[in-house]
Amino acid sequence: MSFRSLLKKFPNEKDLASRPRPYFNHSVEMKKIFTAEERADILQKVGLNVFFFPSEMITGCDLLSDSGVTTMTNEQWAALHVGDEAYGSNRGYFLLRDQIRTTFGDHFFNEPGKEAPNAFLFHQGRASEDALFTQIGGFGSELVIPSNGHFDTTGANIEANGMTALNLFADDLSSNSANHFKGNMNVERLRSLLAESADRVPLVYLTVTNNTAGGQPVSMANIKEVAEVAHGYGIPLFFDACRFAENAWFIQNHEAKYKGKEIDAIVREMFGSVDGFTISYKKDGLVNMGGGLFIRNDGLFSKKYPGVAERILDYQILKEGHPTYGGLSGRDIMALAVGLKLVTKGEYLAHRISQVREFGEGMRRAGIPIITPTGGHAVYVDVNKFFEGTDMKPDDFGGVSLCAVLLGAYGHRACELGYFTFGRYDRERKLEVVPEVNFVRFAVPRLRYEREDLDAVVQAMKALHDNKDVIPGVRVAYGRELSLRHFKARFEFK
Ligand code: F0G
Repeated sequence: MSFRSLLKKFPNEKDLASRPRPYFNHSVEMKKIFTAEERADILQKVGLNVFFFPSEMITGCDLLSDSGVTTMTNEQWAALHVGDEAYGSNRGYFLLRDQIRTTFGDHFFNEPGKEAPNAFLFHQGRASEDALFTQIGGFGSELVIPSNGHFDTTGANIEANGMTALNLFADDLSSNSANHFKGNMNVERLRSLLAESADRVPLVYLTVTNNTAGGQPVSMANIKEVAEVAHGYGIPLFFDACRFAENAWFIQNHEAKYKGKEIDAIVREMFGSVDGFTISYKKDGLVNMGGGLFIRNDGLFSKKYPGVAERILDYQILKEGHPTYGGLSGRDIMALAVGLKLVTKGEYLAHRISQVREFGEGMRRAGIPIITPTGGHAVYVDVNKFFEGTDMKPDDFGGVSLCAVLLGAYGHRACELGYFTFGRYDRERKLEVVPEVNFVRFAVPRLRYEREDLDAVVQAMKALHDNKDVIPGVRVAYGRELSLRHFKARFEFK
């Protein structure tokens, strides 16, 4: 009997309930163990702001961010060793250029020195955003940049350059509908904005996946429709592309037309609709540091705003470094070139997305109200629903309190992305201006945790939910009126 015919007598390994991870631990770090009392004392000292809590004391999962916390592969560690720290045209730069062309399309990276500059490396995403928005801010007055959801630093960089950052969320974002693409831009709202004031819109932005809107993906249909509307008014479209590969996986798996199409081809089709993009490689670049700004050489942006790329180049040289390293060390560039190759691999993405989905399913089964379906990089708990039936009021900042108690009592760190992070205090009216969304986000670092780690978070959240009546609100002791206040504020339990 041949081995292959013997195999037919066993269930297909793909049908087994548990599948091994497509990787194994290459090296590990032993945690230091601290007690809840020790953590509580520190939290009290740092004003309940989890950003200031020492990561070494986190005995559970650190889900504060999925940014820059990827566990790198052995190939990436090996690549670090062959990093070339030359001041000009280091070895990794050429590898990265080739990889960026392969991943996103040739037109996003011109031949350095030969053709006009259009590819700019930065040390992280927000630096590339500032490089772009400092230029665009000068295009006129009362400018508005609409998006399906600006990330906090993106919105802040737009506003810091004198423009308005406008979020056009999908209508069903907070509903429990089974729609897989709640990250879409609300095209109706875009149409009416442009019908009224297209001349005030220098650029339209799409964040893939939509971090501010529950980490939800954007469909190819929405990308194409937004491109058509924006281009119809002669307005360029850009991606905030941090989680482009995860977004492509959702398109492959939930948009009928793309079933069976390779992720690489889907990514290139996505980027075929945009005139440029900013990106933080700390997410789907699978590295600890890196970012960039890329302008399509034959796109609407380069045609409409000639000369801008040259000014961005000057900005880059003044603020970051020579365009061939752009604020990154040569070894970081090497690790990025390797990371970008892995991130679009089907087996990697299938595991990544299903890990986040199963984490969300665990939360849901435990009765925790989350945004469903889960997005690509994080599980978002709906804070208003979590505290339903209690006395928690909007300016008690239940999300902030939930994060502090979770970290103190159970050793897991999550991040408030809601009334405190996105809200602001109106000094004149002496009240809080409340945003549309109120979440606590559990961002899952790539290739870092196992199921049992995330199961422990679910159990901790269930214990908190069962006792939600005794979770107090917080008073803002410092920083209520500051910009980017969530990074700086201090709180006290009421
Ligand atoms: N855009 C999006 C959608 C992001 O999620 C982030 C960062 C940035 C831009 C800025 O990139 O950090 O490299 O400057 N998000 C991290 C997070 C910080 O936790 O979601 P950066």
